[in-house]
Amino acid sequence: MDHLPHTLDLRRNAFSRGLPEHGAELADELERIVALHDASNIAAVIVEPMAGSTGVLPAPKGYLKRLREICTKHGIVLIFDEVITGFGRLGASFAAEKYGVVPDIMTVAKGITNGTIPMGAAIVSDEIFEAFMQGPRDAIDLPHGYTYTAHPIACAAALATLDTYAEEHLFERAATLSPYFEEAAHSLRDFPHVVDIRNEGLVAGIELAPRNASTTRAFEVFERAFHDGLLLRYTGDTLAVSPPLIIEKGEIDRIFETIGRLLKSID
Ligand SMILES: Cc1ncc(COP(=O)(O)O)c(C=O)c1O
Repeated sequence: MDHLPHTLDLRRNAFSRGLPEHGAELADELERIVALHDASNIAAVIVEPMAGSTGVLPAPKGYLKRLREICTKHGIVLIFDEVITGFGRLGASFAAEKYGVVPDIMTVAKGITNGTIPMGAAIVSDEIFEAFMQGPRDAIDLPHGYTYTAHPIACAAALATLDTYAEEHLFERAATLSPYFEEAAHSLRDFPHVVDIRNEGLVAGIELAPRNASTTRAFEVFERAFHDGLLLRYTGDTLAVSPPLIIEKGEIDRIFETIGRLLKSID
């Protein structure tokens, strides 16, 4: 296992709206890794199209396309982990659709059942599917041995969720609300402690300056927000906001007003 460098670059990209301008060249690091290990030793490259739990890191413009090109060139499988980005979060069905970059495998979960019941899935290209179809006729198509594989209740929840997404046009709704959400998030730009705001679709990260070299500020805002009826998430110094796709504009206002007030209340 090897790692590509992360793409967070406050010096060049702080307060970007949507995808940051700079950093596509960081994908070229994959060429160095391929040269080091040889493509024949690399099964796959897995990436979150927008890294969520590491602090909301939208990929720089052109980065994913470059990864795709390098993987195709060397015959390496490209996997998008769309567990967070899938099912409307970025204002499109999937990040792959939004950015026009098609991976060979996508992993999905969370939004597939709207979180009502645990379920995950892997979606593969025809080419990979066909490869598995070459096995004996009695073999399981894409073998995986979970206790709860294809659990009927989870499958029913997923099918109902997919219907609701379509009937209520929730992905389109997320896309329509995104500019309002972006504006609200960036209204915190000049608030105390804020060193960066990142957003894409209906997700935003608000990064705070460290306090005495420790990452306690975001946690403090998270804790106080919870008591004020607002559930945030935090990673290190970054607060993450990722509301339900049915959110109303007034609720978006309330989220960022609450965060703004709490930022003013902490030292
Ligand atoms: C991007 C991403 N991938 C994978 C996972 C793990 O998903 P699961 O619990 O369905 O295995 C998470 C969990 O939060 C996630 O955020």
